[in-house]
Amino acid sequence: MTNRTFVILFSLLTVIFLGAVGAGVWIVSQSRQADSEGSSLVGGPFQLTDHTGRSVTEADYDDVHKIVYFGYTTCPDVCPTGLSVISEALEQLGPAAKFVKPLFITVDPERDTIAIMADYHQHFHPSFSNLTGTPEQIAAVAKAYRVFYQKADVDGSDDYLMDHSVITYLMAPGGGFLAHFGPETSPKQLADALRALR
Ligand code: NI
Repeated sequence: MTNRTFVILFSLLTVIFLGAVGAGVWIVSQSRQADSEGSSLVGGPFQLTDHTGRSVTEADYDDVHKIVYFGYTTCPDVCPTGLSVISEALEQLGPAAKFVKPLFITVDPERDTIAIMADYHQHFHPSFSNLTGTPEQIAAVAKAYRVFYQKADVDGSDDYLMDHSVITYLMAPGGGFLAHFGPETSPKQLADALRALR
């Protein structure tokens, strides 16, 4: 086989492979959207502690729509930006924002204590509940929401960052998955999506 033939064949295989992956992702996302009866692939039961020290489960937020965002308080830019976008979208909704409950769930339970989560709370929309828990509880809720996270060492320091999925979930009352938003989402886009639920 000539080099050129090889390159063409390889390119074709790559295109076929990517096409198959794309189709798979599409099918998964369609089935998630079709399944709003609690057996969805995203979401599930959890037991955590909010920033006031109250023990909470998914049942505490059962009667409202939820925005769910995973991150950590010492995140240098991504999380503050994401939480600001959510806060601004809720501001834009005004009083109508009452029907949606924003949840910020830490992926850094070792450092994000209840006190730290309470302090962080003042920077964003007041309706947020900031949730932390034991490492096991956080691992369980992250798994339920298909959220990846892991410690990332900082060179020449004992400090660490957290690598984590950057995704904003919109969940229905009762816990079904409705939609997700990536880091490029603007406050207006999110506010429009929330308005469309009414
Ligand atoms: Ni972050």
